[in-house]
Amino acid sequence: MSRKIWVFDTTLRDGEQVPGAKLNQYEKLEVAYQLKKLGVDIIEAGFPSSSAGDFNAVKEIANKVGNTDDIMITALARAVKSDIDAVYNSVKYAEKPLIHIVLGTSDIHVEKKFGKSKNQILDIGVEAVRYAKSLLPNVQYSTEDASRSDFEYLWKTIEAVVKAGATMINVPDTVGFAEPEEFGELIFKLNDRLKNLNDQVLLSVHCHNDLGMATANTLAAIKYGADKVECTINGIGERAGNAALEEVVMAMNTRSSVYQAYTDIHTKEIMNTSRMVSNFMGLDVQVNKAITGENAFAHSSGIHQDGLLKSRDAYEIISPLEVGLDDMELVLTARSGRHAVKNALTKLGFDRLTDEQFEEIFADFLEMADEKKEVYNHDLVIIVENYFTEK
Ligand code: KIV
Ligand code: ZN
Repeated sequence: MSRKIWVFDTTLRDGEQVPGAKLNQYEKLEVAYQLKKLGVDIIEAGFPSSSAGDFNAVKEIANKVGNTDDIMITALARAVKSDIDAVYNSVKYAEKPLIHIVLGTSDIHVEKKFGKSKNQILDIGVEAVRYAKSLLPNVQYSTEDASRSDFEYLWKTIEAVVKAGATMINVPDTVGFAEPEEFGELIFKLNDRLKNLNDQVLLSVHCHNDLGMATANTLAAIKYGADKVECTINGIGERAGNAALEEVVMAMNTRSSVYQAYTDIHTKEIMNTSRMVSNFMGLDVQVNKAITGENAFAHSSGIHQDGLLKSRDAYEIISPLEVGLDDMELVLTARSGRHAVKNALTKLGFDRLTDEQFEEIFADFLEMADEKKEVYNHDLVIIVENYFTEK
């Protein structure tokens, strides 16, 4: 029987931790709208205690994107009251707000990072959950560095925070140390105990890519019982990045008999989302990156081209149309009319422009087209960005 896997997107929090990838408030809001269109279940919109700018961006996303009950909006807090207050005061405007608390469980974190005993850290975590729970019904607890933690202490922590009211438990492979078999087994053991304790609590995973195994570890966790996965678009994130949403989702779709699980992601929005994130953050997608790389669906060898022409499935396991790649990618020129430009903007996710905004952007487009002759998607993004920044 196929079961639903929740998709939690952290492009705007873990993804935005990439050096040089900072977004302004307008860009964050646009990405959040696009993530909603993509069909993610939860958006982690930022780390509000880090700056007033981040706080305001989370608040605006909660207000405008979180205004329906088909999406949850969350943000990150350390296990301290001021962080939890900042999250509460920014996400509370959403229909379904969630407070996300993180605190380490490995000896390295407990002893070396915090210089405390395991019992002291456990008490801090429980207190933080109790406080968050007094503010909102939905609380996620992340056991940072879980994959390098002592299993019994990890479980003791999870048991205590669930009893204190946590509704989601997230198990991070914070430094990308795990490997699939081992991580799958960890999730299997935790899931078994958790479901006995409280079968309403969701078990989640958050994998980093330091050894190139974030997607594999996430998929192993799904096989072994995880209910929810944390991902980013194009796999961006701290250091080598996080599990790439598009890879996890398309692996589940393409090999559905293996995973027996589904997500609510609208896969045709994958390319639009990938391009928007890449353009706004100024982070090129590796050309051979699975699913969203420029060459992911390109076939160059004569033998492959010949095979494809006879039967596409000879060398294609996913149709490019499934991920929203258009067979007809138009290059715009000064002769392209309003219709073509509007169509290109809509595909890039800019589908909420007023008539007046569109006319002004179209004028900027004509100016650029006169100068450059050919206008590509990334040029259009720059035009829209400049338009809104100058406003
Ligand atoms: O990598 C990590 O452990 C995190 C937590 C905040 C979930 O990003
Ligand atoms: Zn992380």
